[in-house]
Amino acid sequence: MDAVTQSKGKGKAKNGGGNTAAREAYYQRISKMDLAPLWVVLKDIIPAQPKTVCAPAIWHFEDVKASIHEAGGLISAEEALRRVLVIENPNLRGKSRITQSLYAGFQLIMPGEIAPPHRHSAAAIRFILDGSGAYTQVDGEKTIMEPGDFVTTPHWTMHDHGNTSKEPMIWLDVLDVPTVNFFETSFYEHFDDEKQNTRRDDQDSLVRYGAGVLPDGTDTSLNRSPIINYPYAKMKPILERIARTGDISSHHGARVRYANPFNGGWVMPTMGAHLALLPKGFKGKDYQATDSTIFVCAEGEGTTRVDGKVFDWGPKDVFVIPSWMKYSHNAKKESVLFQISDRPAQEALGIWREKI
Ligand SMILES: [Fe+2]
Repeated sequence: MDAVTQSKGKGKAKNGGGNTAAREAYYQRISKMDLAPLWVVLKDIIPAQPKTVCAPAIWHFEDVKASIHEAGGLISAEEALRRVLVIENPNLRGKSRITQSLYAGFQLIMPGEIAPPHRHSAAAIRFILDGSGAYTQVDGEKTIMEPGDFVTTPHWTMHDHGNTSKEPMIWLDVLDVPTVNFFETSFYEHFDDEKQNTRRDDQDSLVRYGAGVLPDGTDTSLNRSPIINYPYAKMKPILERIARTGDISSHHGARVRYANPFNGGWVMPTMGAHLALLPKGFKGKDYQATDSTIFVCAEGEGTTRVDGKVFDWGPKDVFVIPSWMKYSHNAKKESVLFQISDRPAQEALGIWREKI
């Protein structure tokens, strides 16, 4: 566009501008050599501030629950490998992603079903939405999942799921698939066994590594947390304790970061998560950051204002705030919000930024 605009001037510019036809002919000539003029696209590829292609959007659980259950009658978890409805950002339809860097989906597992073991380069987390008592197994540890639990499946760890309870279970999956595929580094391996053998029981990794001591011989150089389940029943009292003492951010409420107990870092190098309690009547101040963020209401009721819209959220609703969009939370009832984003990856690259 700049080239065209400049070419409208009378006479020849110092740099030879003004000859649109000559420039267009030149662009066509160099195009045959797979070359292109930077000056035509410069402002688009290096904007002065983030220009997201994502839309802010919300998925109300009550609206999608019936459709998720309907999939239970159409395909088994074993046949599907994973029975998931992918949450697609309205501006990124067909790209299997909720943000440019993250995939998200609603996974359903019916009573008696198993989802067989596999592993892949992409890392995954589960945030449990509905139902109780199904399990995930990760590299030899079995964990029983309850609503609000934050379960991690780090990159290349073997994992499988099973539902030995009497009710269907639904959880939110979030994976760094678009990030891994951006780098073209995806590997995948399937195992034919129905489930892996486990040596360690529920909450073993939390007990071993989350109590301020470390077993002899622990490799603390791991770049992700060894804990595979951060149970809601243990996290919420921490939030209540923080809120009681008044340590409440005017933007985020009483918030904790899920941490790697070895070094205080994020749970994974590509994805980082928080859990926040917003007291009843909380009116959050505007906040913006470069990491597009997925939120889940664990409990409560409130609103989030973003880009001229107001999202009304309640339990199990999922919403997404794109990069650098200003937003603020209000809580009608005492509420707990889970959030996850690619912030650790951005921080590692030195490009994460926030404005408060
Ligand atoms: Fe998987």
